[in-house]
Amino acid sequence: MKKKSDLMDFQGKKVVITGVAGFIGSNLADKLLELGAEVIGIDNFLTGRKENLSKAFKAPKFKFYSGDIRDLDFLLDIFQDIDVIFHQAAFTSVPQSIKMPDSCNDINVNGILNILNASRKRDIEKIVFASSAAIYGDDPNLPKKEDMRCLPISPYGVSKLAGEAYMQSYHHVYGLKTTTLRYFNVFGPRQKDSPYSGVIAIWLGKIVRNEDLLIFGDGTQSRDFIYVKDIINANLLASEIKNSGDVFNIGLGFPISLNAIAELLLKITNKNNLKIQYAEQRIGDILHSYCDNNKAKEILGFIPKYNHEEGLKDYFKYFVDK
Ligand SMILES: NC(=O)c1ccc[n+]([C@@H]2O[C@H](COP(=O)([O-])OP(=O)(O)OC[C@H]3O[C@@H](n4cnc5c(N)ncnc54)[C@H](O)[C@@H]3O)[C@@H](O)[C@H]2O)c1
Repeated sequence: MKKKSDLMDFQGKKVVITGVAGFIGSNLADKLLELGAEVIGIDNFLTGRKENLSKAFKAPKFKFYSGDIRDLDFLLDIFQDIDVIFHQAAFTSVPQSIKMPDSCNDINVNGILNILNASRKRDIEKIVFASSAAIYGDDPNLPKKEDMRCLPISPYGVSKLAGEAYMQSYHHVYGLKTTTLRYFNVFGPRQKDSPYSGVIAIWLGKIVRNEDLLIFGDGTQSRDFIYVKDIINANLLASEIKNSGDVFNIGLGFPISLNAIAELLLKITNKNNLKIQYAEQRIGDILHSYCDNNKAKEILGFIPKYNHEEGLKDYFKYFVDK
């Protein structure tokens, strides 16, 4: 049976993607272009890369503007006759946010305020915002539900929660149609293999270089890893729903331990010669996290298509084909 998002048609729609040169933004651009949308991409290359847009640049319906979401005039020039804004741009690193809380706040809080103000001035109704599981902090209650109390630990988590609050506020006060998606641990093509990126991207990089995998702690800690193509589908669905002002967890809805995902990765890549090495657990690391995604299933019609194995296989194929 085809999923609702597979049947979506974006022909004739004009959308903006902020953070389009990033991991998720660039995957979203490719999908929306494939579905017939006219895509306007914005990025200042803080963490994004031009090479992520190599496919999009070939599409006649793609336009790119290099600039900063904190520049209101820049946004007002671009936001003309737009149907949907997909706001992905952000200061995205949790550890970096601890080193530079002011920069994180400036980009993530002043940034979203600018996006909302520009949307209001240009009568753009629909805004979909990329929030994060980081807003839940280290509350041990599981699974994470949307109505739980949010007490983020990192400045990054705080900035995302502030962004969510502005989305709510602009919906209630100015009638903007806003939808917030709380992504859990996303993995997939174009995720950076760097000390600050997701662990799966780091491990795939190591596998390609024939190096052992490293886990901080004993590997029993667990996460809700979700493949990027499912995150893209959630964004497409969120752009279409009628009722707004809402927030949704977007994850697979069950945990997998780091040990299990590392072993699966070694199996899929046929690298049984490589080992899993262990180092001391990092201070502040959350032990377990996974979400209840029933609200997204019921209201958005969100049904994740990729389990861990399917997502990892698709991701590895991209690495090999590259
Ligand atoms: N990757 C994950 O696991 C994950 C999990 C939860 C939430 N998110 C959220 O999803 C969104 C996309 O994340 P990603 O993983 O693709 O990260 P990314 O770092 O690859 O992408 C972010 C993009 O935003 C751009 N950007 C940053 N500041 C900007 C500014 N001031 N003006 C214009 N562009 C700017 C960057 O250059 C980059 O291209 C972010 O909002 C992030 O917080 C990601």
